[in-house]
Amino acid sequence: MQPTMTYEKHALLPEVATQASARAGAGLSWKAKLALAALGALGWFRLDARLEQGRIIKHGHHHNSDWGSFPHTDDPFHFLPCTNATVPPGLDEAHPLEAWMRLYDPNPQHWSRGNGSRSLYLCGWLDVPLDYTNTSDKRVARLAVTKLQHAPERSKRTMIVEPGGPGGSGTSLVWRKAELFAQKYTDDTFDVLGWDPRGVNVSQPSISCFPYDADRDRWNLLTTRFHRESEPREAMLKADAMNQAILEACKREYGDVAGMLTTAFVARDLDEIRKALGEEVVNGYFISYGTGIGQTYVNMFPHAVGRLMLDGTEYVRDQRLIGGFGWAALDNITAAFHDGFLGECVDAGPDHCKLAQPLPGSTSLPTKSDLIKAMDGLFGRLVERPIPAHTEESGPMIISYTQLVSLIYGALYNPLGWDALAAAMHDLLQGNTSMVARMVDSWEYNPALPVAKHSSDELGMLVICSDQYDSPLPPDYDVETNGEGWYLDLWKSMVEQSEIGGNGRFLDVLPCRHWNATFGAPKEVYRGDLDHDLSHPVLLIAEAYDPATPLRNGRRLLREMGKNARLIAHHGYGHSSRDTSTCTDTIMREYMLHGTVPEEQETQCKADAKPYRYTEAKSSAQLVEEWKISMAETQMLRGKTSRRRRV
Ligand SMILES: *[C@@H]1O[C@H](CO)[C@@H](O)[C@H](O)[C@H]1NC(C)=O
Ligand SMILES: *[C@@H]1O[C@H](CO)[C@@H](O)[C@H](O)[C@H]1NC(C)=O
Ligand SMILES: *[C@@H]1O[C@H](CO)[C@@H](O)[C@H](O)[C@H]1NC(C)=O
Ligand SMILES: *[C@@H]1O[C@H](CO)[C@@H](O)[C@H](O)[C@H]1NC(C)=O
Ligand SMILES: *[C@@H]1O[C@H](CO)[C@@H](O)[C@H](O)[C@H]1NC(C)=O
Ligand SMILES: *[C@@H]1O[C@H](CO)[C@@H](O)[C@H](O)[C@H]1NC(C)=O
Ligand SMILES: *[C@@H]1O[C@H](CO)[C@@H](O)[C@H](O)[C@H]1NC(C)=O
Repeated sequence: MQPTMTYEKHALLPEVATQASARAGAGLSWKAKLALAALGALGWFRLDARLEQGRIIKHGHHHNSDWGSFPHTDDPFHFLPCTNATVPPGLDEAHPLEAWMRLYDPNPQHWSRGNGSRSLYLCGWLDVPLDYTNTSDKRVARLAVTKLQHAPERSKRTMIVEPGGPGGSGTSLVWRKAELFAQKYTDDTFDVLGWDPRGVNVSQPSISCFPYDADRDRWNLLTTRFHRESEPREAMLKADAMNQAILEACKREYGDVAGMLTTAFVARDLDEIRKALGEEVVNGYFISYGTGIGQTYVNMFPHAVGRLMLDGTEYVRDQRLIGGFGWAALDNITAAFHDGFLGECVDAGPDHCKLAQPLPGSTSLPTKSDLIKAMDGLFGRLVERPIPAHTEESGPMIISYTQLVSLIYGALYNPLGWDALAAAMHDLLQGNTSMVARMVDSWEYNPALPVAKHSSDELGMLVICSDQYDSPLPPDYDVETNGEGWYLDLWKSMVEQSEIGGNGRFLDVLPCRHWNATFGAPKEVYRGDLDHDLSHPVLLIAEAYDPATPLRNGRRLLREMGKNARLIAHHGYGHSSRDTSTCTDTIMREYMLHGTVPEEQETQCKADAKPYRYTEAKSSAQLVEEWKISMAETQMLRGKTSRRRRV
């Protein structure tokens, strides 16, 4: 069979074929490949490319696959089977669709498939207005989209997923979790789609105000000191000057785009995605800050709400207030540390949790309060003087108070990492830094490699600060000094409420001190109520020991949403309902599959198992490995990619 093609401008086929053979690594020429294809070894395809209103539409057929051609005609996402090259074309690309189509690899054997024999990962992009408030502004945001589709025929419904942050990558979440979510919550009856929000990861523009990640890391190491380790005013003003410099760098790089990243605009993007899917309502699973996008969306578009689960619920009204992203997160961090990480360790006993072995200088097993005291003593010694350490990867290093506290706060997001951290703490108390050094040393920058990553880390502060720009000023806010005293008091009180989380959360909101002077009013924020009558109730899930979104926030949201929501109070550890509960999972599944909600406003669900107890003994290397996996998962929800100051 001869391939047929027509084209007017570019010889598309040879480029496609060259890329395909390059990727196949077979070293075959284009002609040889076609010959093979004709023999049916790789299947065959027909390209029928034509230029239509400046756009090339291609029709190809692959007999080994029943998926038809890519991209499908009139597919607003221009989906192609994902390969490692299918990232959206740059905004400076004059002919984005043509550039995109050159990435099409027609060989089905190169496509990323799910576990199900028929499922396929599709990669695409959607252009949306950069500024929804100004129709004469023709700039676009190009949103990267990844979809797990179960079969060539689309499922009736799509579950849209959003990991939070701000700054978390939805495409990344799809790669990691779409199969699990589809199976667990929908019996594989929903396709799963994730997008990188404007400013994030491979969506464009992608916000990064440092030339290289290593530059950001260097800044952070130079300036970051937590409250107890510093003279607070001096430390705050140093961090503050740094923040001002960062915001000014963002302005230099991105100009007015910084005011177009608010949660209200992200909610509009979500509605564009819904329309592009051709679905009447949004069905989805939104986590953490994603629940703020969800709350905003359902109240801006109350008639387009399907089955939407908001897990790890914030109360988005808090995000309208100065400092709210910080102080609203703290309620249950101390309980998670004391009752969870330390208390459950004692309960599990020394066979399951190394930190429950006798403390140095003692022969008896420690109680929970012994461990609390021991940790506080350790913090005190680190404040006095960091402990020298060493790793193979980075050579000499120190374990500082700030680093250790950050490490613990990160661990509270995910009990999967507790075995490792407890062992590392035990060793550290004995004077052995080897394990904790490997865990602290999470720097991804490899000076031996020429490729420098460019992470969208500053997106978070731009979203957080623009969302709260017009907050009423607290009565004790000293306008003269732009709130210097108020911020200093805030830091102190946040750390008093939670030594573990108060510092990181404070440093998240401190940059907002310079928002107004740098950027002024963003284009749009949502300031309406959250009690609109919805076309379908949403399902909230909030956790009793959540270190970022305490249960209280879910309850306050429920009170405002009334009959338009139901809440699962999930009694487990970690951020969002990752601490598995059959009770929680059953309700989520019934909701996604059938749209049903519990009658009661609030349902109590308990995690199935306790942390620590069910693990067999592991080597420290295995534990560190497990730790890295748990942190990679957690990082997705925190929207930070490189070694960070903020946690
Ligand atoms: C894609 O993967 C192939 C083989 O796995 C590799 O040779 C190539 O460099 C990768 N391309 C990109 C852009 O990462
Ligand atoms: C709207 O966009 C146009 C074109 O970019 C620009 O000239 C104008 O200043 C914008 N208006 C506002 C209010 O930003
Ligand atoms: C960015 O997106 C790419 C492509 O979807 C994905 O492979 C990668 O994991 C994402 N990166 C981050 C840091 O989320
Ligand atoms: C996919 O298959 C692999 C190997 O059988 C398994 O380990 C993994 O859990 C499966 N993933 C899902 C989401 O079912
Ligand atoms: C979480 O914090 C609230 C205060 O907002 C408190 O009432 C509740 O007891 C805490 N939960 C736990 C498990 O300690
Ligand atoms: C320190 O702990 C590591 C395990 O992480 C172990 O391999 C090493 O032998 C210990 N060092 C000393 C001096 O005990
Ligand atoms: C920032 O400006 C807005 C008006 O655009 C004002 O309402 C708000 O009080 C200002 N915030 C601070 C911290 O000065």
